[in-house]
Amino acid sequence: MDIHQHIDELVAETQKKSAHLGQIQQPTQKESGADWVQRAGESRGRPLFYPYVGTGNGYGCYVELTDGSVKLDLINGIGVHILGHSHPKLQKASLTAALSDVVVQGNLQPNKEYTLLLEKITEIASRNSKLKHAWLTTSGSMSGEIALKIARQKTNGARHIIAMDNAFAGRSTMMAEITDNLAFKQGQPDYNEVLRVPFYDSADPESSKKSLEIFKSHLEKHKGDISCFTFEPMQGEGGYNVAPREFFVPMLELCKSSGIPVWFDEVQTFCRTGHFFAFETLCLSEYVDICTVAKSLQTAATIYTPELNPKPGLVSGTFAGSSVALASALTVLNELDQNDYMGAEGKINQIHKKFIAMLNRLNTTSCKGLLRDAAGLGLMVAVIPLDGTKPTMIALAKKLFENGLMCFGCGRGPFKLRFLLPAVLTDEDIERAGTILEKTILEMKNA
Ligand SMILES: Cc1ncc(COP(=O)(O)O)c(C=O)c1O
Repeated sequence: MDIHQHIDELVAETQKKSAHLGQIQQPTQKESGADWVQRAGESRGRPLFYPYVGTGNGYGCYVELTDGSVKLDLINGIGVHILGHSHPKLQKASLTAALSDVVVQGNLQPNKEYTLLLEKITEIASRNSKLKHAWLTTSGSMSGEIALKIARQKTNGARHIIAMDNAFAGRSTMMAEITDNLAFKQGQPDYNEVLRVPFYDSADPESSKKSLEIFKSHLEKHKGDISCFTFEPMQGEGGYNVAPREFFVPMLELCKSSGIPVWFDEVQTFCRTGHFFAFETLCLSEYVDICTVAKSLQTAATIYTPELNPKPGLVSGTFAGSSVALASALTVLNELDQNDYMGAEGKINQIHKKFIAMLNRLNTTSCKGLLRDAAGLGLMVAVIPLDGTKPTMIALAKKLFENGLMCFGCGRGPFKLRFLLPAVLTDEDIERAGTILEKTILEMKNA
C-alpha cells in the first residue's frame, strides 16, 4: 500500500463527510453539549467563556460543536486557524507528520520538518529585512521571553523595556509585566522594568509629538539601561489600534542611533496584514532587529538579525514543536505564499475591504450608529457596538454565539467586537455574518 495515496484517500473522504458542515446549524443535542462544557469548566476550575467544546469536525469557516450546532467561526482560536477548519492541505500535512517516528521534536534531535520550517521562516523574513535566523518555540509568550533575553544580552543586561500603553505580550511572568492590563496581573508584583509610551491616538493631532517626547525622556532618564523597544505594529487585545508609519519612525530612529534593539511583536499580525509581516505593510522593515511570531504559524518563533544571534546557552528548551505543528506551519506559509493571498489586491485585502464595507453598511442603514468605527488591518477587524461598554460587548458576543456567529472582544473602553477572519472567508460568509450581526444588534437594542 502506498501510504501517501492512502492519506490522500483519507483526506478526500473526510472532506466529503464534512462538506455538510459548511453552514450554520442550530443545536440538536443540547444535553450532551452542556455536559461537555461543564466537564471542561470543572476540570480547569473556571467555566468556559462560550459553551464551546468542538467535535473535531468543521469545514471552511464553520465549526461543529458537541451540542450539534455549527457556528460561523470568525475568531479562529483567537487567530490560529487562518485557513479555517479541515483545510485539506493541512489535514494531509498533519497526517503525514503524525506517522513519523516522534510526536514532539526537540532542539537536540530535530527532524526534517524543523529544518524546512526554519528555512521557510527565515527566507520569508529576509526578503525585506535584516532578519536571518529564527528559534522555534511553542507559544507567543515563550517567543517573547526569548526575544527579551536576546535583547538584554545584546545590551549587557540592561533592565528596562520600552513598551506601549495598552500593550499585550502574553501571560508568562515577564510578558505579563509588559502587558498593560491590570486585570491580567492581579496579585503580581510590579518589577518596575517597563517604561510606557502612549500608542497613537487618531483623535489627538499632538499624539505623535507627545509620544515622542515621553520616549525621549525615557532614553535620557535610563541611558545605558534600556534593553529594547517592543510594540505590536497594530495593537491586538488593547483594541485593534492602528498607527501610521510616521508615528513610529522618529522613535525607531532614536533606537537606531542609541543602539537599542527594536522588537516587533507580530504574534497576532503575522500573516494577517496582506504581507507576511506588518513591518512590511507599514514600510518599517529597515528597523526590525527581533520579531516574534505565533498564532497563524500553528507554533511560534523568535526571528533575529545575525547581530542579535545569542550566545550558546542563552536560548534552548526541550520542545521545538510537535511534528504535526511544524509540518502544518510549513503548509500554512507555503499556501499563503503561493496562492494570491498577499499584496494590495490579494485575497486578504479583498476580505478586509468587503468585511469593513459590510459593517459600515449596517452602521448607516438598519443598525444606524450601532456598529461604529469599523477598522483594522487585513484579517483583523474590530468595531464598536452599541454603547461600547464592556458588559454590552460581552452580552453581545454571547448572543452572537447563540445566533451562530463566533467573535471576541478587545479594547479598554470603548470595548470592541474583534474578528480574526480566516483567509478562506467567502463573499457569502460575509453576507451571512452581516445578517446575524444585524439580527442580534437589533435584538439587543430592542431588549
Ligand atoms: C501581540 C501578542 N503577543 C503575545 C501573545 C502571547 O501569545 P500566546 O498566547 O501564544 O502565549 C499574544 C496572544 O494573544 C499576542 O496577541
